[in-house]
Amino acid sequence: MIESLNEIKKMRRIGVLTSGGDAPGMNAAIRAVVRTCMANDVKAVGIHNGYQGLINSDVVELDARSVNRITGEGGTILYTARCEEFKTPEGLQRGVQSCKYLGIDGLVTIGGDGTFRGAQSLANAGINTVAIPGTIDNDIACTSYTIGFDTAANTAIDAVDKLADTMRSHQRTSVVEVMGRHAGHLALYIGISVGATAILVPESKLDFEKDVIEKIREGRYNNKNHFIIIVAEGVGDTMGIADRLYKETGIETRVTTLGHVQRGGRPTARDRAMASRMGHYAVELLLKGGTNRVVCYRESKVTDLDINEALAMHKGLDEYTFRVASEIGI
Ligand code: F6P
Repeated sequence: MIESLNEIKKMRRIGVLTSGGDAPGMNAAIRAVVRTCMANDVKAVGIHNGYQGLINSDVVELDARSVNRITGEGGTILYTARCEEFKTPEGLQRGVQSCKYLGIDGLVTIGGDGTFRGAQSLANAGINTVAIPGTIDNDIACTSYTIGFDTAANTAIDAVDKLADTMRSHQRTSVVEVMGRHAGHLALYIGISVGATAILVPESKLDFEKDVIEKIREGRYNNKNHFIIIVAEGVGDTMGIADRLYKETGIETRVTTLGHVQRGGRPTARDRAMASRMGHYAVELLLKGGTNRVVCYRESKVTDLDINEALAMHKGLDEYTFRVASEIGI
């Protein structure tokens, strides 16, 4: 009888790294990876600064106590980086050599799209690798959820609620730029949650005159005294949008860019729980012999997919949510 999963694969050492933009909840995922390793008699090693640290063999031995009380901390205890060198054949080779030199039998990488591509390259080069989606943008097609999204959305909602108080007092329009890189998932979620008058996202073809300007004029006519417009950073030219709104409606307008504040803060329960489950799942997957896989959340279950398949998918905006937000944002 098999007593532990590790009897199948005989892994001795599993590495974990976080890469790309940090996301609240990454620490809970690291903790889950380490503790699941301990439960299966596998040593855990943390790699600093993402793929850059892998290239430089910049590592730290982790035990159950080193990940004590980190689930509630924002950021990542392993630090992170965006590493251009790793995208080159030489950089990848150095990463592969590091894994061999450090005796890493399996690797868990936590991050967004770029992190997945790094994991794919490592797996193709023979390193057992499993990736976990961690990005506030929630822009990874194979999964309906990415670690950090919920906390970032809640941080932004809290900020916009505060802005709404002062906008109401001055009877102004607030144009709020939120993160999301090239996608509007975060903007849409924030926009519907704060009751925005309009949400501008790269994926949608809003008629600015009809769906934004006219809506504001009509709202003003019906005694609405302030307006919140959420703009995803991927739309670009937020200042230009605000100028146009002011010129065409005559209502004083202020721009707020929330920026990196959205990436910080204590992770929400949803991020902590999801990250813990995904971290645990990733290690079990490696122990069962899985490689070149991504952990994902689909149909309310933590599951996994082939990385190549995952990276070939395309994620569109949730059109129903967009329609709801537009119809009720008056
Ligand atoms: O991918 C996460 C993210 O915060 C994006 O929303 C944003 O476009 C980008 O990272 C910012 O990157 P950096 O922290 O490198 O400026």
